[in-house]
Amino acid sequence: MSEPEGFVPPPYPYDRLAELVSMAEALPGGAVDLSIGTPCDPPPAVVVEALAASGAERGYPPSVGTAPFRTAAAGWLERRFGVSVDPDLVAACVGTKEFVAGVPHWLRLRTPSRDTVLYPEISYPSYAMGATLAGCRAVPYGSLDGIDPADSARALCLWVNCPGNPAGELSDLAAAADWGRAHGVPVLSDECYIEFTWQGPPRTIVSAGVEGVLAVHSLSKRSNLAGMRAGFYTGDPDLVRYLSEVRKHAGFMVPGPVQAAAVAAFGDDAHVDHQRGVYQRRLSVLADLLAALDVVCPQPAGAFYLWAPAPGGDAWGLAKRLAAEAGVVTSPGEFYGPAGAGHVRIAAVQPDERLDLAARRLGVSAGDVPHAHPAST
Ligand SMILES: Cc1ncc(COP(=O)(O)O)c(C=O)c1O
Repeated sequence: MSEPEGFVPPPYPYDRLAELVSMAEALPGGAVDLSIGTPCDPPPAVVVEALAASGAERGYPPSVGTAPFRTAAAGWLERRFGVSVDPDLVAACVGTKEFVAGVPHWLRLRTPSRDTVLYPEISYPSYAMGATLAGCRAVPYGSLDGIDPADSARALCLWVNCPGNPAGELSDLAAAADWGRAHGVPVLSDECYIEFTWQGPPRTIVSAGVEGVLAVHSLSKRSNLAGMRAGFYTGDPDLVRYLSEVRKHAGFMVPGPVQAAAVAAFGDDAHVDHQRGVYQRRLSVLADLLAALDVVCPQPAGAFYLWAPAPGGDAWGLAKRLAAEAGVVTSPGEFYGPAGAGHVRIAAVQPDERLDLAARRLGVSAGDVPHAHPAST
């Protein structure tokens, strides 16, 4: 085979953590991996039962989602966030990462004169990767006001993420929707952490109307179902219809049993209310752990990560200390863009006893903080 002339996938961020992992593994009790935001707590039993009992294995599932799936997703938005969307404007995705990574390609097919994806300068890496995979320009922005008009004129879409990964910030989604309408740019709002909003009420962009916007939601974080791969998008009728037609042609389908299980997950809030307490307790333990290294880290406004300022801006240095002294594997902030290079992201995704082990390694007593009760399964 000759040398490739085009795209060569860059190293996957988390594959760059091997050295941190071996440092942490060397401690008795092994590594406490807080690098990837993968939930560790059990999903509700009612979901697992629905998955097993759906009888939906034989036939092809609808790409856009079954009527019960779409109705359950719309019902969840209404019940939890007070927004009413037409279930016909809800469309399923196979978890949201594939949608995030694929949408620039589909938008570009429709509007070939545009070639730019705008995304927050410190953010989930798939926004930029989606642009790259579509052969588009990935252009980070610091604030809506700071976006170069030459970039907005070329933009296929603008991403917002609220609460944000990695820093947990909340954004003014109505302002983003207004910006998009004023500039003729679709605004895509990734709201997968919406249930884990700690400051004020949860926010969804569709509260500002559906014109020109999409809200993108996932069950991965809400219901500890990252292994099931279920999410949806909703919003602007024209965008939803276009994208769901393209995705039907391409064969994107959430498996039938997963769609049935998702209906059960969207219908249950008790497990989410419990999970919120679990994350808050863990975030507090992790802040104590950082304090033992003289790092003062604020609690996030949302999501389940600490975004820790590294002493002297040396994120790899802090990540190495955390690995060597606490046995904790974390993600250096450069994974989320050059503007994040002075921070470390720490995900609250290990059971309490593993976090307590890490805290004890630094001489922190975690006993003062009450343990969350294990989720009922
Ligand atoms: C901001 C953000 N969006 C999307 C995703 C993808 O989630 P999923 O594909 O499991 O729905 C993640 C996962 O970490 C995320 O942090």
